[in-house]
Amino acid sequence: MDIPKAFLETEVDAAKAQGAPLFADFMASKEPYGSLFRDYPWLRPPKLNEPLPSGGDHYWETAAAVDHPDWQGVDLPQPTKEFQQLRHDFGRWGYALIEDGLSKAQCDAFLNRLIAQANAEAAAGIAHQTPSGQYVPCLINKGDCFRGCIEQDPEHVQAGPLIEAMLNETLGEGWICHSFLANGADPGGYPQGLHIDQAPLLPWVTEAAPALVNTMFIPQDVDADNGGTLVIPGSHQNLIRAGSGGALTDMPRPINLKAPAGTIMLFDGRLWHGTGINRTDQRRFVATMSNVKPWMRQQENWVVSTLPEIIDAASPKLLHRLGMQALTYGATVEGFGLGASGRQGDQWGNIQAFRQAMDRGDYRRVGQLPDPRRVSQEGFTVRDVRSSAKNPL
Ligand SMILES: [Fe+2]
Repeated sequence: MDIPKAFLETEVDAAKAQGAPLFADFMASKEPYGSLFRDYPWLRPPKLNEPLPSGGDHYWETAAAVDHPDWQGVDLPQPTKEFQQLRHDFGRWGYALIEDGLSKAQCDAFLNRLIAQANAEAAAGIAHQTPSGQYVPCLINKGDCFRGCIEQDPEHVQAGPLIEAMLNETLGEGWICHSFLANGADPGGYPQGLHIDQAPLLPWVTEAAPALVNTMFIPQDVDADNGGTLVIPGSHQNLIRAGSGGALTDMPRPINLKAPAGTIMLFDGRLWHGTGINRTDQRRFVATMSNVKPWMRQQENWVVSTLPEIIDAASPKLLHRLGMQALTYGATVEGFGLGASGRQGDQWGNIQAFRQAMDRGDYRRVGQLPDPRRVSQEGFTVRDVRSSAKNPL
């Protein structure tokens, strides 16, 4: 093969070494973590191969806001049902607490199912163990209450309509579910490193609004003793001030969240947070359901992992939340979905039929085709899906 010299790997390597790489300073900035670990040693995560130091100046050595010298008397978010207050808290502090987001009955059902599932996964040898505690991932398959929460169905999460309204404002309409997993803080576990949930975007910072918003379901009381959740109130503002590729400054100290069972915490994907340490003898569970723009890659690959019976029975809303409503910029299958609106219920872009064909074992993809005179028009799944959907173009 006679390849032009300029395309040879040795030549490309030599050429790369000359001149200045594009966007070099930005791409190599390692910000905001570079400045975080350099300028705030107390924000460095623990070494997981060493025992957790007892005492000392570490982010996990903190307290609830009412007991924290830096935060006493500050008007931090409290659980509330008031929409205007939730808006204010989310914007000012980067998080807001929905009071009784789950009713008592919903909360009990949620927690009981979660604990039973976690114990069964451990017994089955498939516990998802982390340094902080056991996780229970892919909750959609593990109880109808969890499926209902992904749809924000008031039968399973009474604050559903309010949550949807907040997510529409903070992410823009059309957001989808990124993942839904339960996070255990086990006695003796390590704290999570403090992080932001939209870290994969870094060093880009979305200054004007988040690209990810988390809804954290709190099915049991959390406090400074049982792992709570560490939060640096208002720290999304520090990131906004730093901007894309910039260094963090004036980082406040974290608090540990104190909230009663049934609370749902909404938080900005730019807020610094993490699981705390659990000093009790009982595991504490919270469950995080994050949500993203509809073209972003989802943390949980629902299209693969969701049970067939859930896919078969899924409402248009659930299919949309799972990322099965293709649009021009995401989730197209063999081109099906290009030009689609991405809106719930739009058949031109609904990829459910492809997944169902896979489940039946008869998904027929278009591969390298033979001579046009010998090709059949029958037998391609994409053809069947296109003909049963209405092309709006
Ligand atoms: Fe997180």
